[in-house]
Amino acid sequence: MNTDSFAQATQNSMQLSPSQFSQICRLVYERCGLCLQNGKESLVKARLLKRLKHLGLTSFSEYLKYLDEDRSMKELGSMIDVLTTNKTSFFREFQHFEFIRSQMLPKLMESHSSATFWSAGCSTGEEPYSLAILIKEGLPEVNSKQCRILATDISHPVLDRARAAVYSEEVIPKDNASLLKKHLIRIQSKPAPLYRISDEVRKMVQFAHLNLTDRWPMQGPFNLILCRNVMIYFDQETRKKLVRRFWELLKHGGHLFVGHSESLTSSSAEFKYVQPAVYLKQ
Ligand SMILES: C[S@@+](CC[C@H](N)C(=O)[O-])C[C@H]1O[C@@H](n2cnc3c(N)ncnc32)[C@H](O)[C@@H]1O
Repeated sequence: MNTDSFAQATQNSMQLSPSQFSQICRLVYERCGLCLQNGKESLVKARLLKRLKHLGLTSFSEYLKYLDEDRSMKELGSMIDVLTTNKTSFFREFQHFEFIRSQMLPKLMESHSSATFWSAGCSTGEEPYSLAILIKEGLPEVNSKQCRILATDISHPVLDRARAAVYSEEVIPKDNASLLKKHLIRIQSKPAPLYRISDEVRKMVQFAHLNLTDRWPMQGPFNLILCRNVMIYFDQETRKKLVRRFWELLKHGGHLFVGHSESLTSSSAEFKYVQPAVYLKQ
C-alpha cells in the first residue's frame, strides 16, 4: 500500500457510522443521562478522536471493543468527560447570588441555625467557592460546621481541579474582582499570575464524586440545592426524576436553583416558583 492509500485507509477507518454513533449515545445515556442528539455526530467524533489517539487505536470499532472489554469502566468515564461541557465561572448568573445574599443569609443569621448547601454538577469549583465566599462575607462569624457546602460532579478531572482551587487571572470576573480577590492568595506571579482560594473558604466546601443518575449516599436535608446548567443536557424523563429527588432532599422552606435557561415543568408542581430559576419547597 502506498502512502496516499494508507492515509486514505486510515481516514476511512476513522469514520463514525450511524450504528456506532447510536451505540455511543446509548452508553452515555445509560451511564449519566446525557442526551446526545442527532446532528451531534461530528462533534462526538471530533471529541472522541482525542481518546482514540490517546489509546493508540485506529478505528471506532476498536474503540467500542475497548470500551466493552474495559471492566474498570475507566474509559467510559473518560469518554463522558470529553463529551460533557464543564463551562462555569465565578458568580455565574449573579441573580442567584444576590438572592442568597438578600433573602437567605438574613434568615439564617436570625435563626442561628446551621445550614447545608449542595452544588450538584459543580465542575471546577467556581460555583461552590462563590457560594462559600458570599456566606463568609454575609456571615463573617460562620465556621465550616455551621455552613457546609457539598459539591459533587461525575468528572474526576474537574473535581481534582476544584480541590486544587488554583485559578488564573483570566477566570476572575471583572464585576466581582475585588470581592473574589479578598479570598484569593497569589501563589505565582510569573509567567502568569495564579491564585489559590484561601484556606478558610476552601474548608467550607467538601467535594465528592457523584453521578446524579446513580444512588445518592447523602441524606440531606439541604437548605439549598444548586443544579445549574446540568439538567439542560438530560431528557424530560431524567429531569423529572432528578427534580423529584431534589425535592425529597430539601428542607421545607429550602430552595432549588436551576440554570437561567432552564425551568421546571408543570410536573414539578410541588415546587413554588419564586423568580426565574429559583424554586421553593413549601
Ligand atoms: C456546564 S457545567 C455546570 C457547572 C456549574 N453548575 C455552573 O452552572 O456553572 C455541567 C457539569 O455537570 C456535570 N455532569 C454532567 N452530567 C452529570 C451527572 N450525570 N452527574 C453529575 N454531574 C454531571 C459535568 O461533568 C459538568 O461539570
